[in-house]
Amino acid sequence: MDPVYYKILHVFSLLVLTAWTFAAFANPAPETRRQTLIVTGIASLLMLISGFGMVAKLYGGHLAGWMIVKIVCWLLFSVLAGMAYRRPHLRGKFALIGFSALLIALVMVYMRPV
Ligand code: HEM
Repeated sequence: MDPVYYKILHVFSLLVLTAWTFAAFANPAPETRRQTLIVTGIASLLMLISGFGMVAKLYGGHLAGWMIVKIVCWLLFSVLAGMAYRRPHLRGKFALIGFSALLIALVMVYMRPV
């Protein structure tokens, strides 16, 4: 498959994951928990699959340092929506952690410092 399809899927699932995660921060009502966890779970999985699809297609399966940092950012960002329902009083801090993880992942992919 052309890697451009992986790129589209990667960025699209990133947008869905980000939108639903910040919606959970804004309103972590118990009745929205199930749907949020389903949508963020699927989006997060698609991000990982498309990310590794690109690692295979563009980099011959070799995991570079910047990719490993991105995987850590992805892991951190993916658990935040669930955390917002468990500890709603901390969601301001979770938002800050989320923005930081996103920024670090973007620096990694566009600047490749490691
Ligand atoms: C919060 C986490 C992540 C963010 C914000 C993120 C964001 C992005 C963005 C914006 C691109 C550039 C698309 C383009 O300009 O064409 C990209 C590409 C890429 N991402 Fe991610 N990503 C994340 C997680 C991951 C994960 C978990 C992997 C798995 C290894 C991964 C692997 C890749 C690869 C291999 C590319 C292609 C780079 C290239 O074009 O040479 N990313 N990512």
